[in-house]
Amino acid sequence: MAELALRGGPEAASTLDVPEWPQHTVESIENVVDCLESNAWCRVSEDAKWVDQFEDRYAEYHDADHAIAVANGTVAIELALKMCDVRPGDEVLVPPYTFIATASAVTSVGAVPRFVDVDPKTYNVDPESVAERVTDDTVGLVGVHFAGYPMDFDELLPVVDEHDLFLIEDAAHAQGTEWNGEKVGTVGDVGTFSFQESKALPGGEGGIVVTDDDVRAEQGHLLHNIGRQGGEAYRHYALSSNKRLSEVQGALLCAQLEKLTEENERRRRNHDRLVKGLSAIDGIETKPADDRITARGFCLFNFRYREAAFDGLSKERFIEALNAEGVPVSEGYGRPLYRQPAFSREHVESHVPRSVDVPAYNNLSLPGVQEVTRTNVTLPHEVLLADSDGIDAIPRAIEKIKDQVDRL
Ligand SMILES: Cc1ncc(COP(=O)(O)O)c(C=O)c1O
Repeated sequence: MAELALRGGPEAASTLDVPEWPQHTVESIENVVDCLESNAWCRVSEDAKWVDQFEDRYAEYHDADHAIAVANGTVAIELALKMCDVRPGDEVLVPPYTFIATASAVTSVGAVPRFVDVDPKTYNVDPESVAERVTDDTVGLVGVHFAGYPMDFDELLPVVDEHDLFLIEDAAHAQGTEWNGEKVGTVGDVGTFSFQESKALPGGEGGIVVTDDDVRAEQGHLLHNIGRQGGEAYRHYALSSNKRLSEVQGALLCAQLEKLTEENERRRRNHDRLVKGLSAIDGIETKPADDRITARGFCLFNFRYREAAFDGLSKERFIEALNAEGVPVSEGYGRPLYRQPAFSREHVESHVPRSVDVPAYNNLSLPGVQEVTRTNVTLPHEVLLADSDGIDAIPRAIEKIKDQVDRL
């Protein structure tokens, strides 16, 4: 058997050729050049067309009545919270295993995040924890379709309805995911997406809000454009910031959207292949198959690593060994959000009304998210665009480490 790469042997995954990300097409360049030459670079310019076009196409792709493009995915969540009429001092439930924006957006509108646990099998909000942690001050939930794996709406929606909460779907990871034939982002009250360059639909930066609710959409249009209604430049009907997406990014995103379906199909084929390969390895656990997931979008690929099945080899050392074998894994988000320095009581207090009693976040302990942080291993979605030989090399590299674990 070949020597471990960490000990100077050959890489087990030398055939894994991970494509560069982000990628663009000839049409991406043509659209951007067209926009630049038009001299209409901002959506309020007279000749602007691209952001409008992108919103229409994105709404159509999601079968949503409205889409409002914004500067990034963080601002999209802030706008969605405003569209749900969140007021300073309100309490909003959020998961602790996600990018910080899911929870920090809540403080940006003066509201108080309250963390709910996640199901370690899916990394998504645990509906039982929602029912347990809701209080009289809770007005809604921002849930995440983590890594593109959708929240279980059959379990979640009855809890949300029972407690009269709004549901914002943070679908930053889930471009193209479907639940029972319906695109995520449109099942709850408002859905938000990110087009930051690491995402499956990359525009450098960018975000969007989708909804079927006419009243919320009207509020969203008003608030994303510094309180303007219609074309009048210096008349403002609400106090708000400028959250607009630029025309240049709108032009780019129109072209990027064209290739999403085909890329997702390739990712899905490779995802299924990888899951099959990994499921043969004792100590590696992937997310459960579910017939209600009728299409998958991707941002990350996760599996859980059980040290005990690898003779107690620490996850950190396993990641190091797998990197050396040519597989670009990482530990992912690393810690629950309530353990982030940014969630110290003092930081949160500086964002919310003085009368609000802010919880001691750093003392919180939720078992599901702790289990995820202890065991999670992450691959970026572009790995799933590699060819099948490269995908097959991933489980092979793990087997190699397992076979020689005594040498690490
Ligand atoms: C789950 C989640 N929500 C929100 C965001 C924020 O998006 P953006 O970086 O476009 O502000 C991200 C970005 O990584 C994310 O992963």
